[in-house]
Amino acid sequence: MTELQRDVVIIGAGASGLTAATRLREAGLSVAVLEARDRVGGRLWTNDIDGATLEIGGQWVSPDQDALIETLAELGLETYSRYREGDSVYINASGTLTRFTGEIFPVEASTQREMERLITVLDELVADIGPREPWAHPRAEELDSVTWIEWLESQTDDVEARDNIALFVADAMLTKPAHAFSALQAILMAASAGSFSNLVDADFILDKRVIGGLQRVPLLLAEKLGDDVFLSQPVRRLEYTADSVRAVADGMTVSARQAIVAVPPNLYSRIDFQPPLPRRQQQMHQHLSLGFVIKVHAVYETPFWRNAGLSGTSFSPYEIVHEAYDNSNYDDPRGTLVGFVSDRKADQLFTLPAEERKRIILTSLSHYYGEEALSPVVYYESDWGSEEWTRGAYAASFDMGGLHRYGADLRSPVGPIHWSCSDLAAEGYQHVDGAIRMGRQTADAILLNRT
Ligand code: FDA
Repeated sequence: MTELQRDVVIIGAGASGLTAATRLREAGLSVAVLEARDRVGGRLWTNDIDGATLEIGGQWVSPDQDALIETLAELGLETYSRYREGDSVYINASGTLTRFTGEIFPVEASTQREMERLITVLDELVADIGPREPWAHPRAEELDSVTWIEWLESQTDDVEARDNIALFVADAMLTKPAHAFSALQAILMAASAGSFSNLVDADFILDKRVIGGLQRVPLLLAEKLGDDVFLSQPVRRLEYTADSVRAVADGMTVSARQAIVAVPPNLYSRIDFQPPLPRRQQQMHQHLSLGFVIKVHAVYETPFWRNAGLSGTSFSPYEIVHEAYDNSNYDDPRGTLVGFVSDRKADQLFTLPAEERKRIILTSLSHYYGEEALSPVVYYESDWGSEEWTRGAYAASFDMGGLHRYGADLRSPVGPIHWSCSDLAAEGYQHVDGAIRMGRQTADAILLNRT
């Protein structure tokens, strides 16, 4: 058993933990990062599958994500725009396909007006409540006591407008059914991205990608940290007093003055805290869970949809694949589509054999792009639900009522233990930007109280 002594031990080598470690080391503290997997990056994972480089986890960067954009610049990483020339596609409840440009789906004029009205109402609420302390708003309890879909039902009788607005948060972001989380949680999601309008705008929210893949961020951070990052070291136990911690992993222990637990909150209970965490934390952590989405890549010899004047951007709350995009790599002559299958649809598909699942998903893609979509040369489903050290995608959210009940304690340290991950962020919540912001914030809190 290797025994190390450091100022701070960091548990988890995702974007958040590695950012915190980098900042602490730059300030002169000694660190050790213990990572359960045999790779760094956590929910960022760029891999070669059958000769195609695919973003299995997070990939997109939006213009408001300052912390991520600064980190990309510091690491010398370059970005490129998602392909978006041409028409987008929308499929309605009757299966009718319509091409469109802009953000608002091509629906009946009255439905379109309803969607625009709802977006305005939501933009106002989001601006008023903000991402930092939604639990402290006078309307927090009221909005946290009604589900997202119930709130939408209270606003409009137009089912298609409701289905479409629900999609932007439920299927597309929290990846949970719209009855499984509150309106307040939905508002936090939008506030963390700047506004509800930003969520609706695919060109904003899914703007850029990183040449070589977004996992290059954690890979380069880890490279700089060098021997201070330890792979295949799941932390099993964290012993702590008022001013010391001892992290026990499979092959090593690290004694330190403080710890940063940089893992998603659904995994906190996998660590045996000694003494046990206070009652409040033990309760709160049970109310945070990850959503579930299958990210599907289909690679073709050419981006054939572009010849038909399509951008590759497609939406339908009524399709198995509720959204899909042109995800062709930089400078790659091949064409790649990426599609998403969320929550209950994903559960249902995983009850089927792999070939049947593939047939159903490709059939859904063919509804958007035509018959050619049925025959990719590479096909891959990211299944984060079966990843032991993540257990879902994209990130964690509170169950009904949890956000206003527990939110104020979400980021509070317990003695020398600090919490850091995208799931706890305000701006950039659920995104890499939020992971980096939390990493910086947690490191700064430790540095501020340095004796
Ligand atoms: P993360 O989960 O990445 O890191 C935690 C680390 O802790 C992991 O490496 C894990 O192995 C490790 N760990 C867990 N338990 C441990 C233990 N006991 N001991 C030691 N180590 C332990 N975001 C975005 O900005 N743009 C996007 O396009 C997308 N798209 C997207 C798609 C998919 C499919 C996913 C899954 C996610 C995204 N995201 C995204 C979200 C984004 O990837 C995510 O929010 C951040 O990468 C999370 O970084 P963290 O460091 O917070 O946690």
